[in-house]
Amino acid sequence: MPPRIVVTRRIPEPAVEQLRGAGDVWVSPDDRPLETAELHEAVAGADAVVTLLHDRVDDAFLEAAGPQLKVVANVAVGFDNIDVPAATKRGVVVTNTPRVLTEATADLAMSLILMATRRLAEGERWIREQRPWAWHMFMLLGTGLQGKTLGVVGMGQIGGALARRAKAFGMTIVYSDERQAPPELEAELEAERLELDDLLARSHVVSVHAPLMDSTHHLFNAERLAKMRSDAYLVNSARGPLIDEGALAEALQNGVIAGAGLDVFENEPQVDPRLLELDNVVLLPHLGSATIETRTAMAELAARNALAVLAGERPETALNYDDVSR
Ligand code: DGY
Repeated sequence: MPPRIVVTRRIPEPAVEQLRGAGDVWVSPDDRPLETAELHEAVAGADAVVTLLHDRVDDAFLEAAGPQLKVVANVAVGFDNIDVPAATKRGVVVTNTPRVLTEATADLAMSLILMATRRLAEGERWIREQRPWAWHMFMLLGTGLQGKTLGVVGMGQIGGALARRAKAFGMTIVYSDERQAPPELEAELEAERLELDDLLARSHVVSVHAPLMDSTHHLFNAERLAKMRSDAYLVNSARGPLIDEGALAEALQNGVIAGAGLDVFENEPQVDPRLLELDNVVLLPHLGSATIETRTAMAELAARNALAVLAGERPETALNYDDVSR
């Protein structure tokens, strides 16, 4: 019998075509996140499931899928939606999509930095709201990046790619990470590794690129925000819960920091209503990897990963392959 492959939401067609060549493929006909009960019903009997970042893959999901399930291929680099140990316990390989989205996400992080520091969204609103304007010396003055310091929290691939861009804008790079970055990267970026509190005290822009885990949940709480410079900007294109959104809204309201740029939110798609009222925060709807090329590459990588596992081969980007007993 051909394997049953479930895709929980519409993904780019070339990836679906790849999957169709190898099994019976069911793609959710509605382009929306499935409710938990619908999701569990959809995955019942699947050999492979291609998931999106809003699908919760926990023990109940794995139980609903059944013991024949071999692989969950997440179309995202982040995998905080998946209980990887639970999957490992049941012999299910979990894969994600690193690397293919690095450049697009770094572009987005750099865009947030420019939008926030140069007040670009405010300017655009000004025009769209048809507020009267004429060039003048002091209209919407922002702050320049040349000679300023970027603090990268989490010097993985996306953090490194952002740092390269920021260096080209004349910024000095500091970073904090549990691990030292490779010496070639440190040398290329002339980057200095600092303790997080030292990074916060020095950086004019702080960009978060850490994975979301229990230990990084609310990494930026009121106390940490207070350790930032009052003229600094905080940018998040990783995962919303890394920042306590309520504490950030207060910090922005009270001038604890100068501004922020957010592509991700604590309770997506909800946004703390206080942020909507503030001009010193740029808000984007989780667009980090949103280019045609990148989303296609992510979906194709997820499809290749699923097919590799079904064929009994090592997938390109697995999270637990060596821990799963087959
Ligand atoms: C990811 O891959 O984790 C991103 O958030 C999706 O753009």
